[in-house]
Amino acid sequence: MLDLYALNMERGLHYEGIVTTRNADGTPNAAPMGIICKGPDQVVLRLHEGSHTITNVKRDKKFYVNLSRDPLLFTYSLIGGTSDLEFAEEDHGFSLKNADASFFGEVHHEKEIVKENDAMGENITVMFHSQVRDIKQEKKESEPLSRAICGVLEALVNLSRVKRVPHEKKMEYAERLKEISRVVNHVGGPRHKQAMELIEKEFEIRIKG
Ligand SMILES: Cc1cc2nc3c(=O)[nH]c(=O)nc-3n(C[C@H](O)[C@H](O)[C@H](O)COP(=O)(O)O)c2cc1C
Repeated sequence: MLDLYALNMERGLHYEGIVTTRNADGTPNAAPMGIICKGPDQVVLRLHEGSHTITNVKRDKKFYVNLSRDPLLFTYSLIGGTSDLEFAEEDHGFSLKNADASFFGEVHHEKEIVKENDAMGENITVMFHSQVRDIKQEKKESEPLSRAICGVLEALVNLSRVKRVPHEKKMEYAERLKEISRVVNHVGGPRHKQAMELIEKEFEIRIKG
């Protein structure tokens, strides 16, 4: 039987997917969300208060995760209407028709975390620990998206340019690197973190040059 490792997910890493839920009126909802892989059949969603998704997951204790690398699927799920997306009726709700892979998540444990001072100011987040079932893989060899590798690439682009740009831009790059580093250290695995450490050290040298 398929598990999350067959979808190229690794335990402990954060990925980006599209979470589909059912609204109270029965209509589908889709939104880009982070998915933390906790084992071959376990994920955690970390949902901020205020979204349709958190309302639906709190009420129904279920959701579908859709994995995709399509920029338009992600964009429509954030800013589009439901007519921009094609949903498939599933046993417990909806998935996205054009996803590379999808699976069902059922919440078995939830924990509220109140953070006064994170990157988004005061923030209530609920961690939904969930059992994964019904994994469907439409596209073999597809890698789930991770902000960690995107961050490392952005940081490398900054690094490759920092010597050549004027002072003001150097300062801008330094600020950007701090933010990228925060994200990568939050969502990445050991190799992403090691890469950022190397990039930061090299950046310190090059920014002076
Ligand atoms: C790549 C990406 C990842 C996101 N991850 C999360 C997340 O893990 N938790 C969360 O609460 N919001 C996350 N968001 C923000 C939600 O997608 C956003 O608040 C959305 O408007 C919620 O839509 P909804 O009200 O239809 O649920 C993410 C956004 C993007 C673009």
